[in-house]
Amino acid sequence: MQMVQKKRNEAEAKIIDGKTLAGRLRESIAHHVSVLVDDHKIMPGLAVVLVGDDPASQVYVASKKKAAEQAGMRSFVHILPKSTSQDEVLKLVKTLNQQKKVHGILVQLPLPKQIDADTVLKEIDPAKDVDGLTIANMGRLMAGLPGLVPCTPLGCAMMIKEVEKNLTGLHAVVIGRSNLVGKPVAQLLLRENCTVTMCHSRTQNLPHIAREADILVAAVGKSGFVKGDWIKPGAIVVDVGINRGADGKLSGDVDFESASKVAGHITPVPGGAGPMTVACLLGNTLIAACRQNELTVPHLG
Ligand code: GUN
Repeated sequence: MQMVQKKRNEAEAKIIDGKTLAGRLRESIAHHVSVLVDDHKIMPGLAVVLVGDDPASQVYVASKKKAAEQAGMRSFVHILPKSTSQDEVLKLVKTLNQQKKVHGILVQLPLPKQIDADTVLKEIDPAKDVDGLTIANMGRLMAGLPGLVPCTPLGCAMMIKEVEKNLTGLHAVVIGRSNLVGKPVAQLLLRENCTVTMCHSRTQNLPHIAREADILVAAVGKSGFVKGDWIKPGAIVVDVGINRGADGKLSGDVDFESASKVAGHITPVPGGAGPMTVACLLGNTLIAACRQNELTVPHLG
């Protein structure tokens, strides 16, 4: 706690190395997968559905497939053309719901405009919803019940806990209210006894509120949106943004250069929330496989 409150603007922020942390988590998952295969002849299977040819989504899906295979899981990637109808996607999801070898289903977002994401997500069996985006899993998170939790928020919470084990009483400010990140990350921090403030595009005096944060999570999708003078000295800053510039370079939602002069700890982009998201997806697939076979869920990481 003291670490968060201490003034440390004379020093550069410590980097929270999401890549290394994700590597450790993936090793632990791979170990538990091998036990599941050896002892129970169950190989966790992850199905990823990609509709269309969005270049960023193609990169994400390829990295999820590779990571699943490296962890010893089965990976089923379904690539459908951009013109695919909603009914065809629903039909595929229904088929995947029935397949025994598929323990986790992820429909990569965004979907082409003729397809309503909520309708598709609603069709996924909550037990296989490794993205944690079905109403059932969102409700479970809100109610504090066990379920499947969205991967990026899980990864963010793990990175924060790597710095500070006890978050009780800390003020967390979340910028962004998406179902994918903002809302679930706020729930996870609430579960850790943080006082949580949710901010969004209509929030007034955002820099002032951000400066009150012991933990600041930025998930807005705007490159360099959060400036150094929005940050409380010593704060833990988690950058969820993955923005690609015209030069192809990735940048986060936080202006790293100015922020790292004020924050106590900060996640980099790339190398922060991105690799942790992939590792948590594997974790959720393993958890889903265990639960579907009524086996004890191992402690990961
Ligand atoms: N698109 C960008 N991030 C995600 C994610 O975490 N899950 C899904 N399904 N789509 C995404």
